[in-house]
Amino acid sequence: MSGRPDERTMEIIRTVGDLRKFVGEARAAGKSVGLVPTMGALHAGHMSLMHRARKENDVVVASVFVNPTQFNNAQDLKTYPRTEAADVAQLESAGVDAAFIPSVDEVYPEPDTRVFDLGGVAEVMEGKMRPGHFNGVAQIVSKLFGWVMPDRAYFGEKDFQQIAVIRKMAKLEGFDIDIVDCPICRHDDGLAMSSRNVRLSAEQRAVAPKIHEVLVKSLDWAADSTPGEVKKKVTEAINGNEWLDTEYYEIVDSLTMQPIENWSDLGDGAVPVGCVTVYCGDVRLIDNIKYING
Ligand code: PAF
Repeated sequence: MSGRPDERTMEIIRTVGDLRKFVGEARAAGKSVGLVPTMGALHAGHMSLMHRARKENDVVVASVFVNPTQFNNAQDLKTYPRTEAADVAQLESAGVDAAFIPSVDEVYPEPDTRVFDLGGVAEVMEGKMRPGHFNGVAQIVSKLFGWVMPDRAYFGEKDFQQIAVIRKMAKLEGFDIDIVDCPICRHDDGLAMSSRNVRLSAEQRAVAPKIHEVLVKSLDWAADSTPGEVKKKVTEAINGNEWLDTEYYEIVDSLTMQPIENWSDLGDGAVPVGCVTVYCGDVRLIDNIKYING
């Protein structure tokens, strides 16, 4: 892939019209386009998506937009970190060609009343705990897909269920886009990278890596326990730590997102995945692990 010539600086695009023009010109020049949707507060996990997109496409567009329709909690929307200047600097250094940073009015000139029939993948776990969340994700990602029409779009596996929901939305809407899932990036102590981690106090930050530590231990427990037994042990082990309170832990089929009762209750090509949401104080953290040998 050609990549961005060093002498060109990244374009910052604020309007849908300019975004369409930018992508239209790239397409007219026969270039492939990769899209990395984000809500900003970028960290090394996001950067790994940018680098992957940079390698696989001629032109890379990143979006930075804190999407109000996917927040089912007003306080969470209000406190979501917003760090535009730092985000722009990071995108620039990752060789991104264009950063789409629109206002809420630009994205939603009218309220988006679309309701997506996302089915079973959106009904469990995050879908159950955060009503309306996935419909909001489908709204914004479908808008971005429609405006950019990328060849490939990149998403991190920390939000494992979100990827299944986006695949379902893309199928419903007929988008011919390669949805690329990228591995979770972790800090040295195992904590999954997340924009929300900055809201942890020092004490909470010290205990948060226990979540991943317990998930890794559970790979051993899976050798001689049922999914139900592993679920119980994981929940107890996480909750045994000060500050940590598990909202749910489910072991699901990686494609349908449906909880399994036996390790073999899987559709074709699926693996068991343990998905967890834990409150660390009032910060909601999510993580997951694949039971490849489970
Ligand atoms: O994963 C996120 O950051 C968001 O849900 C996404 C995909 C950018 C949509 O707002």
